[in-house]
Amino acid sequence: MHKFENFLQENLPTSDSIHPTYEKALGEMLIAGGKRFRPALLLGVVAAYNKLMLDGARHAAYSVELLHTYSLIHDDLPAMDDSPLRRGKPTLHVTYDEVTAILVGDALNTYSFEILSNAPFSDYTRVKLIRELATNGGLNGMVLGQAIDCYFENLPLSIEDVKILHINKTAKLIAASLKMGAIIVGREELGEKLYDFGIKLGLLFQIQDDILDVTQSSQEAGKLTRNDRDKNSFVTLIGLDKSMKEANILADGLQEELNDFDECLQKELSPLLRKYISRHK
Ligand code: IPE
Ligand code: IPE
Ligand code: MG
Ligand code: MG
Ligand code: MG
Repeated sequence: MHKFENFLQENLPTSDSIHPTYEKALGEMLIAGGKRFRPALLLGVVAAYNKLMLDGARHAAYSVELLHTYSLIHDDLPAMDDSPLRRGKPTLHVTYDEVTAILVGDALNTYSFEILSNAPFSDYTRVKLIRELATNGGLNGMVLGQAIDCYFENLPLSIEDVKILHINKTAKLIAASLKMGAIIVGREELGEKLYDFGIKLGLLFQIQDDILDVTQSSQEAGKLTRNDRDKNSFVTLIGLDKSMKEANILADGLQEELNDFDECLQKELSPLLRKYISRHK
């Protein structure tokens, strides 16, 4: 991820406005870090099939991270999860104000598509990538998931509906990251298979996040934990033990499925997936 971090630093959003804090606020949550899970997935697929395309692929990896970071900034707003801590730093609405956090989120959302539209690929590939990110990150993806998440606070859903919530708010962007890697290397059939795998991986990722919300301290997580009591999560609905079992079943299934992919892809993704597939344990 070293080169990705350099790319990110070199492409931080800039502006030539007279605003005293806008520019600093734009970069703050990006520089703060995070796990960079989605870019790593995208770049892992590209590395498996065509390392020469990695430089170009960083544009796409960055675009996913930008959109994800915007989703976190908005997720933490008082109107949503009302959280003061993100990636080990005070959230933007705490450091600056709510207006700044809303607008920085908006700016990172559109900057994400600006970066993707300038990526060094054919027009055909660029349009496909833009469509993938928009479809999964927007009105029928992450945003829908967030809308369901917030609307149904204190209104318990069935576990099947929570899966739909998690798939939308989290899994679709993770699945899109893998699929975008496949689009870049021109393997669209593989992209479909990776998308299905990514949906299950993303569901597991959110169940783990729900587990870690009760098992980790805010300091360990770098964000406010024990903050989801009113939310529909696996833990609030079926408890910690059953959620762990559910996560284990999903993790085992994914480990099996990974064996069906090409060896070159297994080689690239295994170290990363091994770490994340078991992170709830
Ligand atoms: C947090 O995502 C929000 C969820 C979808 C669970 P990450 O856990 O990937 O957050 P960062 O990017 O590492 O900060
Ligand atoms: C948020 O889920 C998912 C997003 C789309 C941002 P959470 O609300 O559980 O994420 P955290 O725990 O605040 O990172
Ligand atoms: Mg939330
Ligand atoms: Mg949250
Ligand atoms: Mg959470």
